Amino acid sequence: MKKKPKPSKRLVLVIHGPNLNLLGTREPAVYGRETLSVIDRRLTASALAAGVALQCFQSNLEGVLVERVQRAGREGVDFIIINPAGYTHSSVVLRDALAAVAIPFIEVHLSNVHAREAFRHRSYFSDLAVGTICGLGSRGYDLALAYAATAKPGRAGR
Ligand code: DQA
Repeated sequence: MKKKPKPSKRLVLVIHGPNLNLLGTREPAVYGRETLSVIDRRLTASALAAGVALQCFQSNLEGVLVERVQRAGREGVDFIIINPAGYTHSSVVLRDALAAVAIPFIEVHLSNVHAREAFRHRSYFSDLAVGTICGLGSRGYDLALAYAATAKPGRAGR
């Protein structure tokens, strides 16, 4: 009997938006004291344990983030976890990129954006997202990864 080809690993991409490279020193009362590299290393270890291939990416530039999302479409990324940071509240182009590639994604925020200034209550991403997690600090990424590692494939990812 012919063996079925082994399915390749699920590929999850974590995207961090502007100023998240400053985690650890940036407004620690709001965003905590963990650095981005500590968070990314923890996610990488969890992904390895779950048999998922993980890539982490950070940029302060809108166009670079758009290009990373477009590349994810060509690479066959299965799931995106994204903290668009300040672009959450302003970026039509990053939203359009996610809509264009149609890769299911979870929107993560470290802080509870709804308990902060009014301009942070609006997101250009939430209605396209499979789900959003906010206010749980860096644990939000871990929870998103646990979901992305097991979610059924498909636009809704549910
Ligand atoms: C953030 C919330 C945004 O409003 C803010 O601009 C950020 C970080 C968060 O993770 O809580 O840069 O996305």
